[in-house]
Amino acid sequence: MSDEKRHTIQTQLLTWYGQNKRDLPWRKNKDPYRIWVSEIMLQQTRVDTVIPYFERFMELFPTVEDLANAPEEQVLKAWEGLGYYSRVRNLHQAAKQIVHEGDGKIPSDKKSILKLKGIGAYTAGAVLSIAFDQKIPAVDGNVMRVFSRLFAIGEDIASGTTRKKMESLVEKVMPEEAPGDFNQALMDLGATICTPVSPGCLLCPVRPVCEAYEKGMEEQLPVKKKAKPPVQQEMVMAFFQHQNLFIGEKRPEQGLLAGLWGLPTFEIPKGDRHLTIIEKFCKENRIPVLNYIIKGEFQHVFSHRHWKVTVVEVELKHTGFDLPTSWSWLEKEKRDEKTWANVYHKAFETERKKV
Ligand code: ADE
Repeated sequence: MSDEKRHTIQTQLLTWYGQNKRDLPWRKNKDPYRIWVSEIMLQQTRVDTVIPYFERFMELFPTVEDLANAPEEQVLKAWEGLGYYSRVRNLHQAAKQIVHEGDGKIPSDKKSILKLKGIGAYTAGAVLSIAFDQKIPAVDGNVMRVFSRLFAIGEDIASGTTRKKMESLVEKVMPEEAPGDFNQALMDLGATICTPVSPGCLLCPVRPVCEAYEKGMEEQLPVKKKAKPPVQQEMVMAFFQHQNLFIGEKRPEQGLLAGLWGLPTFEIPKGDRHLTIIEKFCKENRIPVLNYIIKGEFQHVFSHRHWKVTVVEVELKHTGFDLPTSWSWLEKEKRDEKTWANVYHKAFETERKKV
């Protein structure tokens, strides 16, 4: 890469960012805690969705110490609806590491920050550059898109090797001055101009040095190998109820939707009817069923699986029977005191419908 190209990218991006940066709540100051939380929230979630969650999270847990000392249930509740809950469980764990094992401050060196739960190369780079002015790249999918176009790189951006290459390329291009602004300029450019489809090249500050633009390849880049198709599963969720009570299930600490509340959920073996599995379960566990009502169906997409869900209301004769250990009786009016994964909010909506 020529010095001229590097210099143009640096000055054009920083000038553009100075004039166009988005007014976002985590940009009010350089508090590393706020920046860290924002980066975790932004990992799989759009800026517009994140903003109100971020503001509420900061009111509830203004410092890393407040977060470390908060009960898990309260922290999960503050994340309810954002999805990808392992992010917040790791964030909470990392806050405890900082407060109980460290000196209470977010580490400002790469080696130490990378030891925290949930912090990988991207988050480390974002926090160290934005909060501590260190010249460290923060390469996510958006930045890889921008760089594959700027340098007409046709390698698969889903591969780890390409990411490593991109990191060293970004590092070479980064300025000594304002590395945090430079990284954020790349994020903003990727979000607002160098978008996945129909990029706004005419407004782009680095168009004069963009190889993809020059070759008319901006729509063909980046190259991304298709992910494996999601696993398709048919599920049935049971709304066991008696008078003002219903049964909730605290999901296991590992795996999908770990630690959140849900309804008892069963996978329907291929070729089975949805009621068969529940009827069998109820017989085996001597559950006093009065009747079953099929309330409806809906679809839910997780990152690697696709659920087709049938919701069944199971009216019970009484509550005097043993529950499996992860199940509890909950009062219908107090449902919102627990944190429910989004897929169960959909189930509640389906359950509420008249049949
Ligand atoms: N996406 C990821 N990190 C971001 C940030 N700090 N600002 C805006 N968008 C982002």
